[in-house]
Amino acid sequence: MKVTAFIGSGRKRHSYNACEKFLQNLQSYGDVEYELVRLSEYNLGTCRGCRVCFDKGEEHCPSRDDRDILIGKINDSDGVIFASPNYSFQVSGLMKVFLDRLGYGFHRPDFFGKTCTSIVAQGIGKGESIVKYLDFVGKGLGFNVVKGCCLKTLEPMTEKSQAKFDRMVDIQSRRFYAQLIKKEFPVPTFWWLMMFRMARTSIKKMLDESWRDYTYFRDKGWFESDYFYPVRLNPVKKLTGKVFDKLALQIIRS
Ligand SMILES: Cc1cc2nc3c(=O)[nH]c(=O)nc-3n(C[C@H](O)[C@H](O)[C@H](O)COP(=O)(O)O)c2cc1C
Repeated sequence: MKVTAFIGSGRKRHSYNACEKFLQNLQSYGDVEYELVRLSEYNLGTCRGCRVCFDKGEEHCPSRDDRDILIGKINDSDGVIFASPNYSFQVSGLMKVFLDRLGYGFHRPDFFGKTCTSIVAQGIGKGESIVKYLDFVGKGLGFNVVKGCCLKTLEPMTEKSQAKFDRMVDIQSRRFYAQLIKKEFPVPTFWWLMMFRMARTSIKKMLDESWRDYTYFRDKGWFESDYFYPVRLNPVKKLTGKVFDKLALQIIRS
């Protein structure tokens, strides 16, 4: 299996060290190869907001840079780590630019069956909300998300805080590995079922063949399917799915 860490720090320090230790742990658990990707070493422009990726397709993005190299690395991986320092109570700019460039993926998620998690390195605090954010992003892109972790790195690092840092990375990597080897296609929660059914109904009713979201959903069979991938919904979820379809129709007509 292959696991890739995308690191949103310009320096090779705490986020990098955490990912390296995490990935070395994975290697000790099983047959895992890994790559540490420092986003600062790639040419990645900020999103221009033209929406061409949404409307016409990501291949029409006017920014000709390393985006597709990075996406290729996700495609080639079974698991992914999004690691970022806490900068002003959010992910770093480097990480945000990367996520914005994957933004079309929230319309057309593609990373089902892959596992992802997040690591946030911070000095003092408020990083839990960043972990939550990154985990939500992962879910939105289709990943199976293992709840991320927040590591305190206030310098100078004491022996005690280094030990806690190491312990948390160990726990996190074990949990990640357990999910990674499952390669699951889980039954969606009510929330994600709703997201899928509302999105697909509005795309089907409001767009036409000139929109990439429409052709993508149509070609994947998502206008008819229960969910993004084949899954057995229990009768309650099956019925609720139909209710979400109807609700979306009502919202469109109102
Ligand atoms: C510009 C900047 C903003 C930061 N903002 C915060 C912050 O809001 N909260 C916090 O706890 N730490 C903050 N920090 C500290 C970093 O999150 C912390 O040093 C982290 O471990 C850096 O990760 P790195 O070693 O991977 O670069 C900030 C650091 C920098 C350089």
